[in-house]
Amino acid sequence: MEIDVTSSPIEAVDADSFALAIPDPADPLPPEVEGLWTLVASGEAPTQRGGARLVHVDGRRLVCAGVGPRADVDADAIRDAAAAAVQELQASVGGSVAWILDPALLAPEEQARAVIEGAVLGGYDPGAWKTQNDRPLIERLTLVSEVDVGETTRRARVVAEWTNHARDLANRPANDLTPVGLAEHAAGIAARFETLTSSGLGSEEMLARGMGAILAVGQGSENEPRMILMRYEPPWPTQPDLVLGLVGKGMTFDTGGISLKKRDYMEDMKGDMAGGGAVIAAMGAIAELGLPVRVIAVVGAAENMPSGSSYRPGDVLTAMNGKTIEVTDTDAEGRIVLADALAYAREEGATHLLDLATLTGAMERALGDFYAGVFGNDAAWRDEVVAAGEASGDHAWPWPMHPRYGRFIESAFADMKNHNIRSQGIPVYAAEFLREFAGEGPWAHIDMAGTGFLTWSRGDYLSQKGGTGYGVRLIAELAARLSA
Ligand code: BES
Ligand code: ZN
Ligand code: ZN
Repeated sequence: MEIDVTSSPIEAVDADSFALAIPDPADPLPPEVEGLWTLVASGEAPTQRGGARLVHVDGRRLVCAGVGPRADVDADAIRDAAAAAVQELQASVGGSVAWILDPALLAPEEQARAVIEGAVLGGYDPGAWKTQNDRPLIERLTLVSEVDVGETTRRARVVAEWTNHARDLANRPANDLTPVGLAEHAAGIAARFETLTSSGLGSEEMLARGMGAILAVGQGSENEPRMILMRYEPPWPTQPDLVLGLVGKGMTFDTGGISLKKRDYMEDMKGDMAGGGAVIAAMGAIAELGLPVRVIAVVGAAENMPSGSSYRPGDVLTAMNGKTIEVTDTDAEGRIVLADALAYAREEGATHLLDLATLTGAMERALGDFYAGVFGNDAAWRDEVVAAGEASGDHAWPWPMHPRYGRFIESAFADMKNHNIRSQGIPVYAAEFLREFAGEGPWAHIDMAGTGFLTWSRGDYLSQKGGTGYGVRLIAELAARLSA
């Protein structure tokens, strides 16, 4: 989708269709579209949030997208409206559309950003493997605004497109995307930017570095694991001593291993690399935006399979930082992979760590598909992550940590165990486990099990089943704030 901005009066704008958000009819509409009033009054134009309808006014094709009462209009309402409008057009005519910003709804910059996100994310099609797919696409979106929103628009487009890129990765099935494939994909992104490099450690190199944790998780699969490392070096970082370290869980498939999962919805476990995919795509976004902040990314990529060579309950592993782990459940594999990934990111120079992982089903049960849970060893850093999430649309909520939870991971045989049979506080003691590998300095952990990959449509602008790209917008916002 091509995206541009114009301040021309709408009579002078060349587009196949026009679109705008319509609040509750208690408020007047922009004067350019007063003809709409009759439609609103007759109930033909929807004003309820989420609805969109194609109508004709004064010979123009117009899509009205409802946003509900004006007082309740926020960025998510605008995202929903833009997504509904794009879906309405892609179900009928496609072509080009001009979106008329209404400054009375939301500040122009925030509104422009939300329209782009809603349009780009709402227009996403997960059906890449369908052999017949000929719906008409929106080719161009023009924002009509009196205020200059050009720079905001450019940034929002970059971030939204990389978010869809992360969705593509999460939606790729495990017979198509292996750990080696993910590493190759990261290398392909890095090749596009002079500021970005990518490398991947294979089994031999991981063994040499003492990464006994990720190696154990990957040993049951024919598809070898990879520890992916990306590095972004901008020419003039604003804070040369700060290195943002992004860490992602990259399970290209999680069967649970010997502690096998039950069959229902197991196909969704192709999305267990959504955190890693978000981290890789976010590096692309950061490089394309040219943000003046140093960033490294580490993604632990592996496939968790049951086989004659799988790791087993009872096995004791030694992670890169020398700590030992008793495996009591092979399905709690994400934290094991992250153990080596976090230690590696610190060794490679990360000063501020953030990991993203589809870590616990319990987080999905707790917060559903809208908020991810955020933990940290440093309240200020955790709160920065939460704030970046809230500002970006990747909603995030703080969760507590406390040394007292440490008793849940005490092992009789090793430094810790990876799972406690008690079904209490599961996301919290997963975070306590990770803390053991986060080293010195601020670290935050996002458990995005509910938000990263949708089993069912969310019914809003993320209306498609599958990968959501959760984390890309949050990371881009966080990196932009660290560049300021
Ligand atoms: N990948 C899963 C978590 C998950 C579940 C993500 C549902 C998205 C949707 C993770 O590896 C896992 O299996 N976790 C276990 C942990 C338990 C054994 C402590 C879980 O959630 O049951
Ligand atoms: Zn698992
Ligand atoms: Zn998993």
